[in-house]
Amino acid sequence: MNRVVELEGVSRTFPGTPPVEAVRHVDLDVEAGDYMAIVGPSGSGKSTLLHILGCLDRPTSGVYRLLGLDTGSLSDGLRTSLRGSEVGFVFQAFHLLPYRSVVENVMTGLIYNRTPRRVRRRWAREALERVGLGHRMDFTPRQLSGGERQRVAIARAIATRPTLLLCDEPTGNLDSKTTESLLDLFDELRTDGLTLVIITHEELVSRRAERRVQMIDGTLIEQVAS
Ligand SMILES: Nc1ncnc2c1ncn2[C@@H]1O[C@H](COP(=O)(O)OP(=O)(O)OP(=O)(O)O)[C@@H](O)[C@H]1O
Ligand SMILES: [Mg+2]
Repeated sequence: MNRVVELEGVSRTFPGTPPVEAVRHVDLDVEAGDYMAIVGPSGSGKSTLLHILGCLDRPTSGVYRLLGLDTGSLSDGLRTSLRGSEVGFVFQAFHLLPYRSVVENVMTGLIYNRTPRRVRRRWAREALERVGLGHRMDFTPRQLSGGERQRVAIARAIATRPTLLLCDEPTGNLDSKTTESLLDLFDELRTDGLTLVIITHEELVSRRAERRVQMIDGTLIEQVAS
């Protein structure tokens, strides 16, 4: 089973007058180990699509299979546990708890996916070492640079050992040098076997991915490498 994501005719319409067709008839396969960038103008449906991929939202129509499982046929509870064990998220705003230490922030990612209490701290520590922050465990987020904060958020996302890492503008708040070093980290995570899907406005970021798809008005177009 090497296919991580399989979308068939997936649409997402938000109710309203008029309704917003944010995602329209999208077909997409993402294989294990893929590194894919999603580009496209503001409002084109990128985040909506990413939320569907992460089981944070459901398609209005069409079929979404995650690791071969038809997510539409799963109960809410099963979708939540599938998300908890297989998907990690990283957002532009790091969403760290300001008064908790770095290691505690990473441990929050492990509470929701029922990781046994006694291994949480060890997995959190391993994830922090993986992102190069083994020496910052007991700091609080406000004592970290922007790039370090994003690494903590990435550690939190990978601490659960997901198959798929979904990132929505992960470098949007970072300068270009910090962005480059985060992209090096993404390369390493991918070498470890993680499947990566990254929304970005930045050429610097999309260039590093292996596949690029573009969203325009809710539809998805694969860009052929030149
Ligand atoms: N919860 C919602 N209810 C109604 N409309 C929504 C909702 N979420 C998104 N939309 C609409 O769907 C469209 C696509 O939004 P989406 O956030 O996916 O765009 P995006 O490509 O991520 O844009 P950006 O680059 O600015 O983040 C927009 O027109 C937006 O207004
Ligand atoms: Mg968005």
